[in-house]
Amino acid sequence: MMQAERAAGALLPEYHRATPECPHPERWSMYDSMTAEVEVLEFLRTLITTVKPELVVETGAFLGVSTLWIAEGLKRNGFGKIISCELDPVVFAKAQEKIAASGLSEWIELRNESSLEMKIDGVIDLLFSDSDMPIREPEVKRFLPQINPQGLILMHDASSHLKIVREAALKMEAEGLLSVVLLPTPRGLVVAQKREGRR
Ligand SMILES: C[S@@+](CC[C@H](N)C(=O)[O-])C[C@H]1O[C@@H](n2cnc3c(N)ncnc32)[C@H](O)[C@@H]1O
Repeated sequence: MMQAERAAGALLPEYHRATPECPHPERWSMYDSMTAEVEVLEFLRTLITTVKPELVVETGAFLGVSTLWIAEGLKRNGFGKIISCELDPVVFAKAQEKIAASGLSEWIELRNESSLEMKIDGVIDLLFSDSDMPIREPEVKRFLPQINPQGLILMHDASSHLKIVREAALKMEAEGLLSVVLLPTPRGLVVAQKREGRR
């Protein structure tokens, strides 16, 4: 959080280490090492305007930056909502401030709770899983029954270096739960769809 405050919105070259699938991470940009890469934020917004979800769920809001990029997509669509959760109360309060000042609050419901306890009503059209890396598998499995079979599941931090999220996604694919594409970004991004119910 201090790194983000010090940078004050300035862009830095991405400094996560090079991987076989992404040998030039410095070609990407970031605000800080927690917030998703700028190009991933742009991708999220474009995905929202492309698939036009009614309900987006995000786990791990941090300072609310990815939440706001998603909300911008929803605003452009003219409908939809993002429900995002942040476990840490101090970080949650910062995210709340940022969202309140953004002019995008009407598209966002931010909750100070764990993704492993958060209750969501209805069908989830897009899940962006970006909380604590070791809990991504239980988190996705928890929401899976509620995910629209035509919808999308995104798991951030899925590079071969960070490993745990990549392995969780590939395990869920081997279990027949997901179909997975591994985008070769600096921190890695899984784009997946659940198998069950897909036509
Ligand atoms: C990588 S950061 C999220 C970055 C954010 N999505 C973005 O790109 O702007 C991960 C966040 O998840 C939060 N977190 C960790 N465990 C969590 C849980 N079980 N439920 C919700 N949030 C959690 C951490 O406090 C941290 O702020």
